[in-house]
Amino acid sequence: MGQSRAQSKAQARAHELRRLIEFHNYRYYVLDDPEVPDAEYDRLLHELETLEKEFPVLVTPESPTQRVGGTPMDGFDEIRHRVPMLSLANAFESGEVADFHRRVCEGLERDDIVFAAEPKLDGVAISLTYRSGLLTTAATRGDGERGEDVTSNVRTIRAVPLKLRGDGWPELLEVRGEIYMPRAGFETFNRRALERDEKPLVNPRNGAAGSLRQLDPQMTAKRPLAFFAYSTATRDHLPDSQFDTLTRLREWGFPVNPEIRRVTGLEGCLQYHADLGERRAGLGYDIDGVVYKVDAFKQQDILGFVSRAPRWALAHKFPAEEEITRLLAIDVQVGRTGALTPVARLEPVFVGGVTVTNATLHNQGEIRRKDVRPGDWVVVRRAGDVIPEVARALHGRRETELAEFRMPLSCPECGSAVERVEGEAVSRCTGGLICPAQIKHSIRHFATRKAMDIEGLGDKLVDQLVEQGLISTVADLYHLDHDQIASLARMGGKSAENLLLALQKSKQPSLDRLLYALGIREVGEVTAHSLAAHFGTMEALLQASEETLTEVSDVGPIVASHVAAFFAQENNRQVIQALKDAGMDWQPVEDLGGEQPLDGETWVLTGSLSMPRVQAKNILVSLGAKVTGSVSGKTSVVLAGEAAGSKLKKAEKLGVRVISEDEFHEFLDEQGISL
Ligand code: IVH
Repeated sequence: MGQSRAQSKAQARAHELRRLIEFHNYRYYVLDDPEVPDAEYDRLLHELETLEKEFPVLVTPESPTQRVGGTPMDGFDEIRHRVPMLSLANAFESGEVADFHRRVCEGLERDDIVFAAEPKLDGVAISLTYRSGLLTTAATRGDGERGEDVTSNVRTIRAVPLKLRGDGWPELLEVRGEIYMPRAGFETFNRRALERDEKPLVNPRNGAAGSLRQLDPQMTAKRPLAFFAYSTATRDHLPDSQFDTLTRLREWGFPVNPEIRRVTGLEGCLQYHADLGERRAGLGYDIDGVVYKVDAFKQQDILGFVSRAPRWALAHKFPAEEEITRLLAIDVQVGRTGALTPVARLEPVFVGGVTVTNATLHNQGEIRRKDVRPGDWVVVRRAGDVIPEVARALHGRRETELAEFRMPLSCPECGSAVERVEGEAVSRCTGGLICPAQIKHSIRHFATRKAMDIEGLGDKLVDQLVEQGLISTVADLYHLDHDQIASLARMGGKSAENLLLALQKSKQPSLDRLLYALGIREVGEVTAHSLAAHFGTMEALLQASEETLTEVSDVGPIVASHVAAFFAQENNRQVIQALKDAGMDWQPVEDLGGEQPLDGETWVLTGSLSMPRVQAKNILVSLGAKVTGSVSGKTSVVLAGEAAGSKLKKAEKLGVRVISEDEFHEFLDEQGISL
């Protein structure tokens, strides 16, 4: 008795939970207006799962917990469509749409035709059968007459209702529509696949098709699939037009594309096509055109069919976003910051509405991952206004052995060495000060306020000076004469005088300013200061090895490798020499001459300190100490802050001297350093 009372209570709750879950599903997938956060939805679903586990007799096939069914299948059964799934006639040009419109007007003997205009979704066609309001089968299109039974897979797609909402639906209802993969889901899926070294999906359409063909529904359930309904197989219990039918389907719980409109005449159709074409890239899912359907069923029936396509509908395609062409060569371009980008030279191909001859290949890692080689047949993709890219190579079409592409070791613009920092995707030219591709950028940076602060030397003037051939490195600035400057556009005698004065004034920078102004990668003002303080002179810095560079506070291995690569360049050294020859005299940041109190000592910082750790490190380094990360027999002192852990223990074990932060401050006082 107690058991059955508990069970009937559970049954009532299960019923309520299903109602709530179905309602939230409807808000989310059909109205696109969720009422509760995902976490709340998950809680309801979890509660229902728990209840059903406790009372298995309460489980029903249409329960939202029953989307992912049991065991993998051996294959798919064949299903014969009660009503064939037809195809659509295609048009690519507006002239073909005009022909279609004319035929429709002639057939109906009128010229005020109303159409339902819809996005043509780029996914997989599906037919869903509902009996007594419950989903019983889902079949692919196949050859239009017979498709495959993919019910177990389609049940896992939450946008597909397992049970119809509301009332008034016929006993047997067959709804047709498109299963698709939203772009965001596609991208997330592929990012994860790459992280796990798994094969990524080629594009959202293939992703949708492949997901439906999984033999294990558990796999399909993991794919980000969605659904839009666009028609029915029969018209029982339905309104008398396409547009109103879709509205009714929405009421019964089917997601219907929100972009569908009623339009009138040829003009209405073409305007819809143009408008959606412009917004195509921002839709969140792929479409390959629009579909015009004569809206009134009575009119559709008059027009009828020709072969396998209705006379009352037309697919007006957009230019394809992907096309195949031959990759002729891979060239390398140098950007204004020195980044080397491989550029694909292509046999011209019409894609995404324009003729494409060049496309990006991003970087060398991407080329290797996609295994794209000059001579390959490749798929070029251009979506919206996005820069065309080589999406993939068709390896099956390789006729001969093709050589792999390699990044050049020297810059194609200036011949300087190319560096590739480990862990970074990009290769870069190290000749920033002389490379024609980068020269404007590097001179502009040199002149900025935080760098050499050359007043009056703005971007436009730099451009003119370079374009007129008056300067080709920063050192040339100091050889400009009055007449040369005054002869430039928008410059006069007075502004030439002012610029010469500003240049003169900039000839005695502190060493750190100069280092910053040189535009070495990853060397900002703070790092420039640390380098200048540590080495004292340019000469010392020029001789520093990569290893010595890492001893500088806030210089890690990556920064050290950039600095070392920069100074290893003969070209860059020449520019520095030329600056000196032009009379530039850089000043040491602080006099580091003589002995430092902590010379030869190695310190380790641990625990939390009241001052920023870099500050403590900088101070110690400026006093001559080396600061390292781990305690060893070579450690001289461990500075232990609050809650110091294993490093402190190790120091104690090894008998290394440990001082507290208070003691450290006392020591700083003694050194005359106040914080
Ligand atoms: S109506 C008789 N409407 O396009 C009309 N089809 O060749 C049958 N498609 O693979 C289709 N979006 O899956 C229709 N809004 C839409 C569509 C659409 C995409 C696909 C359909 C089929 C192909 C028709």
